[in-house]
Parts: sequence; structure tokens; C-alpha cells
Amino acid sequence: MIPQLATQISDVRARVADARAQGQRIGFVPTMGALHGGHASLMACARAETDYRIVSIFVNPMQFGPQEDYVHYPRSPQEDLELCASQAVQLIFAPDSTTIYPPGFRTSVEVEGLQDSWEGTSRPGHFRGVATVVIKLLNIIQPDVVYFGQKDAQQLILLRRVVRDLDLPVMVRMCPTIREPDGLAMSSRNRYLTPDQRRQATVLYEALELGRQLIERGERDPAFIEKEMDRLIASRPMARADYVAVVKWEELEPLKQITGDVLLALAVRFGSARLIDNVIVEAIDGRKL
Ligand code: PAJ
Repeated sequence: MIPQLATQISDVRARVADARAQGQRIGFVPTMGALHGGHASLMACARAETDYRIVSIFVNPMQFGPQEDYVHYPRSPQEDLELCASQAVQLIFAPDSTTIYPPGFRTSVEVEGLQDSWEGTSRPGHFRGVATVVIKLLNIIQPDVVYFGQKDAQQLILLRRVVRDLDLPVMVRMCPTIREPDGLAMSSRNRYLTPDQRRQATVLYEALELGRQLIERGERDPAFIEKEMDRLIASRPMARADYVAVVKWEELEPLKQITGDVLLALAVRFGSARLIDNVIVEAIDGRKL
């Protein structure tokens, strides 16, 4: 089945009202297009739990910094339509930027603290743009459930906070990161990599696995784990680590000692491409060195 396409807010609202009138549960997957297997897995999660599924495709200018890749961000509308069709999505919402940001638009949402660390340090203003557009999309669509990937863990944590703090009536689901066979997390930005960079990009997952193994073997010093992960990344000549973080899951706060659920997260540059990835590791007590 070919999904319907809406570009206007009033059209989306009319379709959602029809679905609701039939007693359907609404699932929503926000994206910036250039869809891949990671996005497809979110649609599959939504398909298992909801009746009427909407994917938004909107490359959100507000979340890109002035030096970032907004203009060059990959766009592939025909392939995106086919991928949504293959996942039985009923509606694609693909507004243009004046629909989302009409002349005179002035409101934005900040999430103090959570927006400033890690990705926020490297990309000032990024999470203000993400939080603002996601709230707008949730208000337009008013879904029962919204789906995000663990791949963008800080984004997910921050958006969960927004939903709680602003009492948005939606359930937030996290779906696992989908990887290429060699471990590289699927990402729209992987297509920026040259063949050599692509070969070396497996170092993100290798560094995360190294961190995981160190914790599983009983290492409890976050600084040591970060140093070892950094060293592995530095062994690939084309890779430049932006940050390596070993922090408390859901709080993103630094740890003195590893305990409980820990987020290992990193950002690595290859030329002009910037890739991120993470894993969550449970430190089981009683295995200390
Ligand atoms: P985008 O990068 O297109 O990602 C859309 C959703 O797909 C996000 O929830 C992201 O975490 C998830 N995703 C991306 N790669 C994935 C992978 N390999 N495995 C699992 N999930 C993956 O994130 C955004 O767009 C934007 O910031 C958005 C939330 C749409 C706001 O503009």
C-alpha cells in the first residue's frame, strides 16, 4: 500500500481525526528523511503497537548550526516513500519549512543542563531546535506513541524530559540501534564517508565494545575506560574523536565509579562527516577488580 502524503498541517489533522473516529491507535515516527534500516525498525516497532502510523520527513533547519550540513543533508524522497510503503506506514507528513516556521515565528524550547553537554557542547543550539520541532510535530499529530532510536541517546533522554516536564500526552518508546553487519550504526550521514573512511568507521563500535568488555571484566574507573576507548579511536589515522563519554544512563552525568546502567557514547569525525554511537552497559556488582 502506498502511504498518503500530506504537506499541510490541516491535512494531517483531518487524517488523524478520521483514524481516531475509527478507534485507531496513532503511532508517530519523526525523521529527517534519507531513510535507512534504522528508521525502518522504528516503523516496525510502531506497526507492532499501533494501527495508524505517521512518519514525518522534515530536515529541520533550527537544529543545524551555521557551519553544519543543512544544505547538503541527503534527501531521497522517492526511496523514502518506498521504504515507508514497505513498512505499511499510512501517512507521510512532509511539510516545507515555512509551514513549520511561518514568518514571525519566535518561540523555542530549551532543556536546561541536558541540552548543553556532549552533543550540545559540540553543536550549540542543536537540542533547542530538536525539542522545538518535536513538540510542534507532537502537537500537530497528537499521537498515542512516539518512537525514537537509541542511536541518538541524548536526544531521546532530552525528549523524554520534555514530554514529562510539559505534560505532553504521549508515550515515548526507545527502539534499539540497527547496525551494518560490521557494527557501524546505520545513519543518513554514513553516505558522506569515502571508502577508506567507511572502512575505518567501524572504530566507533569497536571502541564501544572495548568499553563494554572492560566494564564486564570488572573495570570500574570511567577515566581509564575513556582513555582506552580514545586510544583505540586514535589508532585509525582518519578518525578524530570529538568526545568519549562514560556517564550515568538517563542522567548523562559523569561518574566517579562505574555502577548501575552506564551509557558509553562517542562522536567521531571523519573529514567533514561526524558520526555518533553509543551502548548501554549494566555494571553488575560483585565483579569488581
Ligand atoms: P533522524 O536522524 O532522521 O532520525 C530519526 C529517528 O531515527 C531518530 O529517533 C533516530 O534515533 C532514529 N535512528 C537513526 N539511526 C538509527 C539506527 N541506526 N538505529 C535505530 N534508530 C535510528 O533524529 C532526527 O532525525 C531528528 O533529530 C528528529 C528527531 C526527526 C527531529 O528533527
